Amino acid sequence: SLRGGRCYRYQWPRLLSALCAAAPGRSPPGQGESRGAQKTFRPAQRGIFWSRALEQQVPPGFDSQQAASWLETARAARVASLERGGCGRSSNRLARLSDGSRACVRYGINPEQIQGEALSYRLAQLLGIQQRLPPMTLALVEARGRQWGQVRDELRGSHWAEGAVVSLTQWVDNLTDVVAPAPWRSEAGSGRRLQPLAAGELGGLTQSQLVELVQWTDLILFDYLTANFDRLVSNLFSLQWDPRVMHRATSNLHRAPNGGLVFIDNEAGLVHGYRLLSMWDKYNEPLLRSVCIFREATAQRVRDLHRLQNAASELLRLYRTHEPLSGRLGFLSEQQAQLLQGRIDFVHKHILHCKAMATSL
Ligand SMILES: Nc1ncnc2c1ncn2[C@@H]1O[C@H](COP(=O)(O)OP(=O)(O)O)[C@@H](O)[C@H]1O
Ligand SMILES: [Mg+2]
Repeated sequence: SLRGGRCYRYQWPRLLSALCAAAPGRSPPGQGESRGAQKTFRPAQRGIFWSRALEQQVPPGFDSQQAASWLETARAARVASLERGGCGRSSNRLARLSDGSRACVRYGINPEQIQGEALSYRLAQLLGIQQRLPPMTLALVEARGRQWGQVRDELRGSHWAEGAVVSLTQWVDNLTDVVAPAPWRSEAGSGRRLQPLAAGELGGLTQSQLVELVQWTDLILFDYLTANFDRLVSNLFSLQWDPRVMHRATSNLHRAPNGGLVFIDNEAGLVHGYRLLSMWDKYNEPLLRSVCIFREATAQRVRDLHRLQNAASELLRLYRTHEPLSGRLGFLSEQQAQLLQGRIDFVHKHILHCKAMATSL
């Protein structure tokens, strides 16, 4: 039920409120005693966007300059050790690099996995949500090369093909699990249709819930665009036989110690996902429709990519500019490029639909 016309206000926690009131020029004259009184702010603005004030509460992710400098370092570094365990499936390895940093190395049984990982990372950049993904670069496995020479023995035991392209993802300490937030958990669990998360439906949510939802709305757009079924969608699928699945940790999603979400393992995106659209779109689409509130910047990127019809060419530009090994894996096929543009257009249309709904209230 849409509760039109009501404006939901979120109560600042007392401490923040006190800080705001103490800020010079912020407190109205003659209200010195009201310090500590609760201030309010709106979680949403203009019907379909998260408010600036709320977005400012989202914990920072991977800073783009730090990410770029780690990528340069990781490409130049030697792999000092390769260990099993810590990075997921048995074909992955935890690498220690000569600069002291660590990386998860992912080997694709099928080359489309590494391609999907690398292209998804660049699509995140194109959408302006790359700070939620750990920095990732490609590497060429050459047992006699400078980068891998020190771990030749480990390579022999890895069954990685000489000359394969693997991905290196910056290691992140102390990641924890994430369970899907209530809007998807409860609705999906009760077997009803997913109800859209909209600006008018945010009453009663705490600040930390809202801050998390801001990040989830980006995640759901991202996973729709890349057709990545290996996160929330695979859980929705598993509901058929596991009614509690939405209460379990979401795969390939973690929380950093500062509370920010970290989207890992995007290998199912774009290439693999587009190959399996017929199987997964009946889950991808309702999930997208369950979101009617967006980060304004993300919605703007989508609008621009729709208006200019240049999603694939922009993605290619970023991929070539920022990934030295881009040429090794190749890019999206013409058909995949059209699918990407079609999905951008679909998301844009969905955002317009949400806008129309919000203004008709
Ligand atoms: N960059 C990383 N930093 C820290 N831990 C990671 C990182 N990448 C993966 N892991 C750990 O490995 C697990 C599996 O990672 P994932 O990339 O999903 O591998 P898989 O190929 O097995 O699906 C994660 O749940 C996490 O615990
Ligand atoms: Mg995984």
